[in-house]
Amino acid sequence: MTERIVLAYSGGLDTSVAIGWIGEATGAEVIAVAVDVGQGGESLETIRQRALGCGAVEAYVADASDEFANEYCMPTLKANGLYQGHYPLVSAISRPVIVKHLVKAAREFGATTVAHGCTGKGNDQVRFEVGIQTLGPDLKCIAPVRDLALTRDKAIAFAEEKGLPIETTKKNPYSIDQNVWGRAVETGYLEDIWNAPTKDIYDYTATPEFPPAPDEVIISFDAGIPVAIDGVKVTPLQAIKELNRRAGAQGVGRIDVVEDRLVGIKSREIYEAPGAMALITAHKHLEDITVEREQARFKATVNQRWAELVYDGQWFSPLKRSLDAFIEDTQKYVSGDIRMSLHGGQAIVNGRRSETSLYDFNLATYDTGDTFDQSMAKGFIELWGMSAKVASGRDLRVAGE
Ligand code: ARG
Repeated sequence: MTERIVLAYSGGLDTSVAIGWIGEATGAEVIAVAVDVGQGGESLETIRQRALGCGAVEAYVADASDEFANEYCMPTLKANGLYQGHYPLVSAISRPVIVKHLVKAAREFGATTVAHGCTGKGNDQVRFEVGIQTLGPDLKCIAPVRDLALTRDKAIAFAEEKGLPIETTKKNPYSIDQNVWGRAVETGYLEDIWNAPTKDIYDYTATPEFPPAPDEVIISFDAGIPVAIDGVKVTPLQAIKELNRRAGAQGVGRIDVVEDRLVGIKSREIYEAPGAMALITAHKHLEDITVEREQARFKATVNQRWAELVYDGQWFSPLKRSLDAFIEDTQKYVSGDIRMSLHGGQAIVNGRRSETSLYDFNLATYDTGDTFDQSMAKGFIELWGMSAKVASGRDLRVAGE
């Protein structure tokens, strides 16, 4: 029987050519797998037809946008997931959901190998292949750009020679990856890290320099999940989309960073994630009033480690699963409303309320009604400083000897 390979298919030039390229190099039949994670653009049906037109024996297409929002974006929100404090893990969280569908398709169509269009220099090859090793340990991986010398020039020549139904003239100077959680743009002119991004780079956000009037929004959460916007019930996917639109119109969520890739390279990336950044900001502020101090402090460390694991392609790893359990436990009381002003590139929280809040007005107030007994503070401070005081006495004694 002819060997079968499932290919992660975007509908673009490189993966369209990869169908025939893999076929010629390996003699295998190629099944194209296209997954909608809210990236917008062409319909799944158009992509499906193109895959077949480019020689795929089958095309598997899946609308995974709700699955992606519920099972990947929401855990990222609960973890306030920001790699190196900046990057909301846009591409990193889309790979595991695509992997799930690749493995499912491989089983359905009896494939032995999974192929993807990543280069050998980035994080995404790692995320795909580690995910596949974990979910389908018997499956092999192949990356035509990395393993079969499929360069851009060769891809264009191949598409023209074979008359593939794909445009070869449209030149985009950037490498772009996008989904409902955000958009990542790299390469070209941006590789000079002194160059400021030009206006044409952005798509999810309007320029924050000339913003429309401030937009005030109330986001309601239930156990860490956004459930309503301005009182209107929403699903996670709807919440992200609505905030992409409203925060995007105010230029919220533009990020320009040089980040540390897993493969040891520092690389410059421009992100735009208006919905994700507005949601993370709101969620963090709600945690500030609902999560107990020691839990909150420890969670900050867990969040950071969680983001690193996810960035590093360890979505399906045991440690990530354990951290998820901790994070989930902290979200029990993260319910309530956050009022936030979206304006001029910023999402600023200006009000919060919660039935499960730990904020106690009577403890906090400096006005009448104060229930805090200030006389207790004196003894507390004495004991709190005791250990350092004893050590300092020792230091002085030793220095004087
Ligand atoms: N640097 C980001 C990451 O590793 C984004 C990579 C996405 N690719 C792109 N073409 N911009 O998660």
